[in-house]
Amino acid sequence: AKARHFRWEVSNMFWSPDCEEKVVIGINGQFPGPTIRAKAGDTIVVHLKNGLHTEGVVIHWHGIRQIGTPWADGTASISQCAINPEETFTYRFVVDKPGTYFYHGHYGMQRAAGLYGSLIVDVADGDEEPFKYDGEINLLLSDWYHESIYTQMVGLSSNPFRWIGEPQSLLINGRGQFNCSLAAAHTPGAKQCAAAGAAGNRHCAPVILPVLPNKTYRLRVASTTSLASLNLAVGNHKLTVVEADGNYVEPFAVDDIDIYSGDSYSVLLTTDQDTSANYWVSVGVRGRQPRTAPALAVLNYRPNRASRLPAAAPPATPAWDDFARSKAFTYRILGRAGVTPPPPATSDRRIELLNTQNRMGGGHVKWSINNVSMVLPATPYLGSLKMGLRSALPSAARPSDTFGRGYDVTRPPANPNTTVGDNVYVLAHNATVDVVLQNANALARNVSEVHPWHLHGHDFWVLGYGDGAFRGDAGDAAALNLRNPPLRNTAVIFPYGWTAIRFVADNPGVWAFHCHIEPHLHMGMGVIFAEAVDRVSELPKAAVSCGATATALMAGAGGH
Ligand code: C2O
Ligand code: CU
Repeated sequence: AKARHFRWEVSNMFWSPDCEEKVVIGINGQFPGPTIRAKAGDTIVVHLKNGLHTEGVVIHWHGIRQIGTPWADGTASISQCAINPEETFTYRFVVDKPGTYFYHGHYGMQRAAGLYGSLIVDVADGDEEPFKYDGEINLLLSDWYHESIYTQMVGLSSNPFRWIGEPQSLLINGRGQFNCSLAAAHTPGAKQCAAAGAAGNRHCAPVILPVLPNKTYRLRVASTTSLASLNLAVGNHKLTVVEADGNYVEPFAVDDIDIYSGDSYSVLLTTDQDTSANYWVSVGVRGRQPRTAPALAVLNYRPNRASRLPAAAPPATPAWDDFARSKAFTYRILGRAGVTPPPPATSDRRIELLNTQNRMGGGHVKWSINNVSMVLPATPYLGSLKMGLRSALPSAARPSDTFGRGYDVTRPPANPNTTVGDNVYVLAHNATVDVVLQNANALARNVSEVHPWHLHGHDFWVLGYGDGAFRGDAGDAAALNLRNPPLRNTAVIFPYGWTAIRFVADNPGVWAFHCHIEPHLHMGMGVIFAEAVDRVSELPKAAVSCGATATALMAGAGGH
């Protein structure tokens, strides 16, 4: 294993992801940020300079568990103080498990401003993946808004509420098409976008993926969307799913995959089609009524010319509201036989988290968990809990492990009013914890949305899904899959349904658990797990140099 060093500077820059010039947050002048490639067991060292001038920044390494390094998790107000303009913070952590990951900003809505990139971990020397392939293709998927994140955040926090709406475009590796289609011939009313090689804006030139015939490729697909749930298909080609969130899954073949924000997959594709053609890679919206055109890329069978666009129509994205189809895909994802460890047979604690949409203070729209909407404190939790600064915590009250049976998930909340709170759940060291995420009707009648929940610091087993209200010990708890559940770090809850997960609280630190939809997190959709903070070793000073922990450090340095 070796240490891999990076010097990065985050800054605002003009960029045209979909050929419309906007400001993005880039790294070292690049958007998306540079890809980190490492081997399992390596240490990643990123010296991150904040070149944003007027706001803080942090970077979260999504899917990396940060075992023993909770201060490197990159969550503002949770694991560290945001890095001030012109200052540098060093992230140092081990990538212990091979897989497909990504990194992204985790302060305000900076992720939605373009602060993200890929993080790919290969198996350690001498180890082998449990499947074979000849080449790799990396696809980092995102959605893109023309409105700045500042306008978006003000709207979401305003009374009356202003929703951000649907994204203007979808991006594949940071490139998309707005107001034109690469397949205009098959898209009524669309004008043709410039093809590859045509003179034009290099930022938004179509993504071309060169492949050789009769080979097998590993497509690494990750979604860092702000809002959109996506579906990816490659014309004429089957996809075999082999990895999810850095964990091997029992292989299964499909025509297309659903991918929610925070998910990553590896799928195998064999180039066994007519070699005289190129093929579309199509990424479209599911789960919400789409107002965003699919993003297209070209699978270029060499030696065909890259600029030769496929003559066939791009594969159609399945109906956005065919949730039965979405569930059928998700339910097929299971742990790989002989590779994925089984979960502990029993759990020590079950936390049931009801997801509701609420109003606060007469009109602000929030998302709440057991009727508490999460707000983050001025002093990050890891520092304040480690240093025992109770006064730095926003509230002393502990949130509830249950919302009580009998809540009618099929109707708007009877009591739509919510409060804000810190939502800190203190977990006993090494406890096996079950969490049941319960979806419900939002404020409007007949609306219940998809929410992909992501856990920091851990992988979890997804034990089961169901429709309607979770029926506890007598019913659903007895029917969970303890035999071959998949290990993941992100799990979706479907409209009006529930999802049950299990994990072992074996990683001392303070970890966010939240909906990965950026505006939902901004509106309070998350909780915090504090785990054996007394076992965390001494925090780097730079992680605690703000708020009450800074005051305490200065008092210590000056007075004693
Ligand atoms: Cu990728 Cu807390 O998120
Ligand atoms: Cu959500």
